[in-house]
Amino acid sequence: MRNLDSHSHVRGESIYLDDIPLIHGTLYACVFDSPVAHAKLNTIDVRDAEESEGVVRVITAKNIIGENQIGGIVPDEPLLADGEIHFQGMPIAIIVAESETLARKAAKKIKIDIETLEPVTDPRIAAANGDLIVPPKQFILGNSPAAFKTCAHIFEGRTETNGQEHLYIETQGAYAIPAENGGLKIYSSTQGPTAVQRAVCRVTGLAMNEVEVDVQRLGGGFGGKEDQANAWACITAVASQLTGRPVKYALHRMEDMRMTGKRHPYSSDFRIGLDRDLKIVAYDVTFYQNAGASADLSPPVLERTLFHCTNSYFVPNVTATAYSCRTNLPPNTAFRGFGGPQGMFVIETAIAHAAEKLGVPASEIQRKNLIDDGQRFPYGQKAESEAITSWNQGNKKYDFSGLQKEAELFNTSSRYFKKGVAMMPVCFGISFTKTPMNQARSLVHVYSDGSVAVSTGAVEMGQGVNTKIAQVAAKVFGLPIEKVRLQTTNTLRIANTSPTAASAAADLNGKATQLACEAVLTRLKEVAAELVEAEAGAITLVDSVVFRDGEKTDLGWQRLVMESHLRRVNLSEHAHYATPGINFDWSTAKGHPFAYHVYGTAVVGVTVDCLRGRYEIDYVKCCHDFGSSMNTAVDNGQIEGGIVQGIGWMTIEEVVYDPDGKLRSSALSTYKVPDIYSVPKTIEILPLETDRENLAVFNSKAVGEPPLMYGIAAYFAIRNAVRAFSPENPLAFKAPFTPETVLMSLYQS
Ligand code: MTE
Ligand code: HPA
Ligand code: MOS
Repeated sequence: MRNLDSHSHVRGESIYLDDIPLIHGTLYACVFDSPVAHAKLNTIDVRDAEESEGVVRVITAKNIIGENQIGGIVPDEPLLADGEIHFQGMPIAIIVAESETLARKAAKKIKIDIETLEPVTDPRIAAANGDLIVPPKQFILGNSPAAFKTCAHIFEGRTETNGQEHLYIETQGAYAIPAENGGLKIYSSTQGPTAVQRAVCRVTGLAMNEVEVDVQRLGGGFGGKEDQANAWACITAVASQLTGRPVKYALHRMEDMRMTGKRHPYSSDFRIGLDRDLKIVAYDVTFYQNAGASADLSPPVLERTLFHCTNSYFVPNVTATAYSCRTNLPPNTAFRGFGGPQGMFVIETAIAHAAEKLGVPASEIQRKNLIDDGQRFPYGQKAESEAITSWNQGNKKYDFSGLQKEAELFNTSSRYFKKGVAMMPVCFGISFTKTPMNQARSLVHVYSDGSVAVSTGAVEMGQGVNTKIAQVAAKVFGLPIEKVRLQTTNTLRIANTSPTAASAAADLNGKATQLACEAVLTRLKEVAAELVEAEAGAITLVDSVVFRDGEKTDLGWQRLVMESHLRRVNLSEHAHYATPGINFDWSTAKGHPFAYHVYGTAVVGVTVDCLRGRYEIDYVKCCHDFGSSMNTAVDNGQIEGGIVQGIGWMTIEEVVYDPDGKLRSSALSTYKVPDIYSVPKTIEILPLETDRENLAVFNSKAVGEPPLMYGIAAYFAIRNAVRAFSPENPLAFKAPFTPETVLMSLYQS
């Protein structure tokens, strides 16, 4: 089943924010943002800008009618700088003009009087200064200090992972339109329509019932629009409120790259202890998260780092500590994996480090420590594990040690090209780690012509959630998918939504849709039973036809719907779903936070050109736990995209800030993402076979984020190839492993 959007995408007919027809009188906003990372802001001189051609209004912090605050978790994020500047790119003033060009021209005329201060960009320095976003968090299992005393082998070290630019194809943006009696309608490119609604209410002083947020689809979000779409929606809302006119702002790429946060860089320390059989006995890890200038989503990202700090392994004694460190960078935010990848990279490093010192393959340590059914994660939840099955089924199909041997054989006869292979088991928890967020609603209308409309809180951003939800409705009603239309995500139809995030949108909104459709179906079946003279229990609907005791009748869907309507039967339903059985208690740091886990095992092979430092990803082969996929085309697309994005993070994507906090990689000329030439030459996907039931919608497990983490193996595969060329060179565990770093690692003395 193809993604419902594929047709309009390839024809260029899909509607994004910038395609919305504009209302007569629309104005254009842009932002004047800080040129420095840390300063005292004395005065803002807007006079020249106000007199500039076409300018209708220039807005600073003091003009905001509501609160100058958009921090959702910690109130530490002013919409516009007021007295202090905390990062380069921090919005200071909004310029509203008759055209985009005139707005941007006027922005250049704003003058500020500042006293620059010393910026901090290193999270360890921030932690040493006591500059934390929230108090440190810790997970403890067993007793690691005691367990280390029993270990045959102990290794310790340090790792660094860098940030990652989301590079959604559609930049951030919003369009605010005044509504009757002071209300506002906001079109926003957001993963969280309710988050936008709340933030807009805060800065405008309006009530939630006065603000409507509408989202057709996003040209990608990847976590970057879970919270960080709010600022731009607030800017257009404030501008619209103060001018009484519609206001639009779609960021230019370089504005977006400069002003928005990215994946959190982490610096971490680890200590790992193993027994003689290579079982991991104890693991201590300390994470320093580079949060940037304000909290944004850093606290829950930090928590997920802890949740995934032992990846797919059972470790009986764990002490994991995490610091969210305030620095003078743009506030870092959600990015596919939500802190999980950063946590997993560290334990994979610890294992690789131990393996290198002990002279055994890392895969042996990985395999021996995979979590089994009934064993507990450090946060207390018992595993229903597919870690071992996915490893074994993958191995059966791909022959992991055969692939390793093939590389070793190649390396013995090749002097300047070296191959490296690495494995990556993945275990990712599905549910928002904040339990109350695991709820969703769906509004289903069956119209009297038999067509079906579904509205949910899910936002389509390329991941295919609308296709899956339409499949749910079609399946429950026994209709072809063409009968079902997904409406825009709109806060008037669906209230109090969680963002489309945590890979959980299809599960939560799909289940709510299933409940809504089933409720309507029950009523329709009662009418059908009357019409075909049967018990309601004998009725089924298949291919738009009513069946009685498995026998086709001449009552079709359309007539059934019309008859039901004439009998005044309710053909609409608004249903609510809340994931059962989940909980987490931060006072004990224990609970059962995840509805289920997604497992998988990947093997990645690379070839490094040891003269030039260049490399190619030869293959990624994985055995992935889909549960029972509802849509293999969509799900395989998610796996491929996730893998490429993960490899990009680990290899060529390099976010670079100057020591003074200025972003150097601020354009596509200085920030390299994987293109068609750098993607793996082959990606093979083997669906894990399992009959286990799970809490996913129709057993079709969430797929959005987990595959990104297979990309981590690319880092270790390159490392193995580099070691094959220059085994004596000390190598830091620092990602990304760009071709430049590879070249230097090959030849350092
Ligand atoms: N796929 C595409 N094409 N575009 C995206 O923006 N976001 C990812 C993932 N896959 C994304 C994507 C992220 S970060 C998440 S959390 C999930 O999709 C969210 O959607 P889901 O819950 O429907 O899987
Ligand atoms: N994942 C993604 N987004 C979130 C989460 C999570 O666990 N919690 C809050 N926002
Ligand atoms: Mo995804 S990082 O949970 O939006």
